[in-house]
Amino acid sequence: MKVLVPGGAGYIGSHTVRELSEAGYSPITFDNLSEGHLEAIRGGSFIQGDLTRFDDVRNALLDSGAEAVMHFAAHCYVGESVEDPGKYYQNNVVGGLNLLRAMAGTAGAGRAVPLLIFSSSAAVYGIPSQIPISEDHPRLPINPYGRTKKMFELMMEDFSRAHGLRWVSLRYFNAAGAHPDGSMGESHRQETHLIPLVLQAALGRRPGVSVYGTDYDTPDGTCIRDYIHILDLAHAHVLALEYLRSGGGNEAINLGNGTGYSVREVIQAARRVSGRPIPASDAPRRPGDPDRLISSSDKSRRLLGWEPAYPDLEQIIGTAWQWHLHQRY
Ligand SMILES: NC(=O)c1ccc[n+]([C@@H]2O[C@H](COP(=O)([O-])OP(=O)(O)OC[C@H]3O[C@@H](n4cnc5c(N)ncnc54)[C@H](O)[C@@H]3O)[C@@H](O)[C@H]2O)c1
Repeated sequence: MKVLVPGGAGYIGSHTVRELSEAGYSPITFDNLSEGHLEAIRGGSFIQGDLTRFDDVRNALLDSGAEAVMHFAAHCYVGESVEDPGKYYQNNVVGGLNLLRAMAGTAGAGRAVPLLIFSSSAAVYGIPSQIPISEDHPRLPINPYGRTKKMFELMMEDFSRAHGLRWVSLRYFNAAGAHPDGSMGESHRQETHLIPLVLQAALGRRPGVSVYGTDYDTPDGTCIRDYIHILDLAHAHVLALEYLRSGGGNEAINLGNGTGYSVREVIQAARRVSGRPIPASDAPRRPGDPDRLISSSDKSRRLLGWEPAYPDLEQIIGTAWQWHLHQRY
């Protein structure tokens, strides 16, 4: 089966393209390379194009003969979305709408492509009112990035009712780690994620890391987050596609381990894994950071039969460390 993968040259997309290939699918990466890397594409074919140009998307769907889509292409820096919301609504919502219209076969697009897996985010929930967070938690995002993810989910719901699209929205918690063979990993233009920041500090590429807030209502006072290994995330996409292919209905499904680690625990684990001192300094809280973000993983396990292969924090950091030591792109 051919699967069009917008954003397949990015961090999560590229690991999923490889996983799709290894599972016997034919992925077609569709990416404008604004953030992604050609060297990261390990399997299938590549079309350079931009989601914000309708013709690019329509032609990619028609030319490739894709029967399903896995949609990763988006801007994804929360801080940047606050400073420049227009950039986020343009790419994530307008670009996403082009994809849905082309998939629905409307606007002169021709053939419909009915199956869609979407990269959503825990950011759709906003400040959690219950932990662990389950999928029926209200969607009350607190920044433009999270709102674009919620808007795309709402658009999928409407396109499903009108045109019969079937979808799974995968709401990721913190994606982390790298391929265990060390050949591919995380390489973002702006690094905002804790694990790569800590490892860059271990390598001396930055002076140290800041711990934003030490008086949260957690055992060591620092924020707790749920980290999920990139291959566990990639594998869940293949399971979600199989779920849709076997007739499964529209579902939003969290992807997290159901366990949380504090900022201090991550730094300590990275010191153990790397064997290097990592300078850390306490800094004030950042606005909008909840105490804890921990996923309920019941639904992914029940509906998809998903089981994490890399649930352990040191395993996650260990694969990321091997990547950062010999980073290739
Ligand atoms: N990294 C995380 O922890 C995390 C958490 C929750 C959700 N997500 C979501 O997962 C998806 C992938 O995240 P990532 O970390 O791999 O990001 P990434 O920036 O590495 O990958 C995104 C890819 O999309 C491409 N792209 C962006 N806009 C495009 C456009 N208009 N047309 C064609 N290609 C375009 C980029 O070039 C890049 O290759 C995003 O949708 C993100 O919002 C990520």
